[in-house]
Amino acid sequence: MTKQTDNRSIDVIINAVRGHCAILKEEGITRLDLPFCVVAQGAAELEPVREDSETGVDPHEKRERLLALKEKVLCCGSCEELVKNRTKMVFGAGNANAELCFVGEAPGRDEDIQGVPFVGRAGQLLTRIIESIGLTREQVFITNVLKCRPPQNRNPRPEEIINCEAFLIEQLAAIKPRVICALGTFAAQTLLHTQDPISRLRGGFHDYHGIKLVATFHPAFLLRSPQFKQHVWEDMKMIRRELDKRV
Ligand code: URA
Ligand code: URA
Repeated sequence: MTKQTDNRSIDVIINAVRGHCAILKEEGITRLDLPFCVVAQGAAELEPVREDSETGVDPHEKRERLLALKEKVLCCGSCEELVKNRTKMVFGAGNANAELCFVGEAPGRDEDIQGVPFVGRAGQLLTRIIESIGLTREQVFITNVLKCRPPQNRNPRPEEIINCEAFLIEQLAAIKPRVICALGTFAAQTLLHTQDPISRLRGGFHDYHGIKLVATFHPAFLLRSPQFKQHVWEDMKMIRRELDKRV
């Protein structure tokens, strides 16, 4: 039998240990027996950093912060039913240095199997929507309000949204995108803390802690009601114009 090796950058391991210990501390554990096991998961869904990707800021910093947060989410057991029934936790995918972030509702069946957001039919439509404004999935960051699939794709429960929201807030604080695009009712209402329907929330910019937020229809809704595609196209053009403003 060949020996399995699992080679990781020391920075990833430091952040994983830090994230793991932070969880234990939050749970009131102040002392540990060594050795303990840190489950450092893969980072395949996070794009490697391009050295020329930003000026002034260490481009590795945001990615490392996301990786540490991913370890924290993996250790989360707040929603027992979801953790018990899921296949994979779906943290998010794309570029930690993205200027544009998409936020959906929750993983579905395909996402739960692959551990990657928006890979099913709605995801394929989202890919085309992203490409319609000259971007790729690798350039943006895509995540969901919930990181675990609700059984049978039932709607997220209010307590599940509350449990998971801190992770979303931390993701967006780490990435600091220029624009956030909320996909559908759940994402828009969660991010904006409102009960207004998506039809009223779309069509203009909102403020999310100093970041411009656009709410638009969910791609799964567009698959059922393609007559609303024109509205999404208009929302996407609005995002493109904002990104084109030089900072
Ligand atoms: N729908 C969502 O809201 N998110 C996914 O990741 C897939 C489908
Ligand atoms: N309902 C939703 O949840 N999302 C939409 O985009 C439209 C209707």
